[in-house]
Amino acid sequence: MTYRFQIPLTFQHRVVFERDVFAITNPVLDELLASSEAGTSRVYVFVEEGLSEILPELSQRVEQKLISLPQLKFCGLDFLPGGEACKIDDRVYQKACDAIAGAGIDRHSYVFAVGGGAFLDAIGFAAATVHRGVRLVRFPTTTLSQDDSGVGVKSGINKYGKKNFMGAFAVPYAVVNDFAFLHSQPESVRLDGLVEAVKVALVKDGEFFEWLEENLLRIASFEKEALEQAVERSAVLHATHIAESGDPFESGSSRPLDFGHWAAHKLEQISDFELSHARAVSIGLALDCLYSVHKGLLAADDGERILKLLEGLGLPLWSEHLDARESDGRRTVYAGLEEFREHLGGRLTILLLRSPGQGEEVHEMCEELLEFCLQELQQRVCTLA
Ligand SMILES: NC(=O)c1ccc[n+]([C@@H]2O[C@H](COP(=O)([O-])OP(=O)(O)OC[C@H]3O[C@@H](n4cnc5c(N)ncnc54)[C@H](O)[C@@H]3O)[C@@H](O)[C@H]2O)c1
Ligand SMILES: [Zn+2]
Repeated sequence: MTYRFQIPLTFQHRVVFERDVFAITNPVLDELLASSEAGTSRVYVFVEEGLSEILPELSQRVEQKLISLPQLKFCGLDFLPGGEACKIDDRVYQKACDAIAGAGIDRHSYVFAVGGGAFLDAIGFAAATVHRGVRLVRFPTTTLSQDDSGVGVKSGINKYGKKNFMGAFAVPYAVVNDFAFLHSQPESVRLDGLVEAVKVALVKDGEFFEWLEENLLRIASFEKEALEQAVERSAVLHATHIAESGDPFESGSSRPLDFGHWAAHKLEQISDFELSHARAVSIGLALDCLYSVHKGLLAADDGERILKLLEGLGLPLWSEHLDARESDGRRTVYAGLEEFREHLGGRLTILLLRSPGQGEEVHEMCEELLEFCLQELQQRVCTLA
């Protein structure tokens, strides 16, 4: 006998945009965090280590704020290393699990994670696995983590040399995008993270793409308001896709938010993670845009606009790591296609572009055409240099 059950699940995905959320007078956290049925909820905080130098008063502000909230019991704060290194080995994940266990955090308690996308991925994985999931509140501190990764429902670490090989899907309790963090980033990192805003505009919202083009000068000259507007619009597009696409946990074959990522993830790995995710994505986008042009899907003018926008943000279109080859002479990056398919399962599905804002899925990629596109990208970069 086979019984079939439907298990309906709905989640609330709370995404807040705010400034100075840890200021003692700021009401956002008070309103966001409920007390547990048992009374106060325990909260443990992880802050990315590098932030202690950039923002030396941060941990004290966080602690004072949490102590001031009657519904919470502050149980401690740890600094742990961030950046891609914290996903490459599992020590940060392990330390976070130890601390969560030691602080008696349960499923009605909160884990706060304050840091960049890599840090949020590692701490988020710990929060998703201890007790099979405790309440995670993310405080993304980089452009990329605010405009994309922080508002998503994934966490993970790298394993066997592969990006995000281990991880979990879990909707965070809340995401608090505190704009104040954006402006302490080094200028290049601050702009690099907008690559995910370009990506989501390309696959979801042609008007946003035009807005990015029109506001490029404001953004590139670090006008705060322009950066914040771009971040918020991108985050909302990402969260809307997750909430409304019907496949938040990616069980199908289609993954439009990973446009350009098959090459990007492989390039990060080939470079031994010296190439950042953001810069690798820029190269991946450039490649798949050019491929869309030469496949006859995307108008050449539109392809050129996209490359110009990436260049205008100071993002790369080429990396020497694209030249890495296997013993048979095949470019190593091409293995990214099979790894991308395997990570998702099912049939290879790659999103290409018809126009800025409109994608089209294909199920195979021609290496000869990719070769042609790569040579064109390399020539473009050589000519400009
Ligand atoms: N989970 C997801 O859905 C998802 C989606 C996209 C990307 N990602 C992951 O996100 C990671 C990239 O995130 P990222 O671009 O934030 O890089 P990152 O986390 O590596 O941070 C970049 C650098 O900025 C520093 N930093 C962080 N906040 C700062 C601040 N406010 N001021 C100054 N410096 C600061 C960090 O210490 C680090 O050196 C990758 O591992 C990528 O795979 C995950
Ligand atoms: Zn990405």
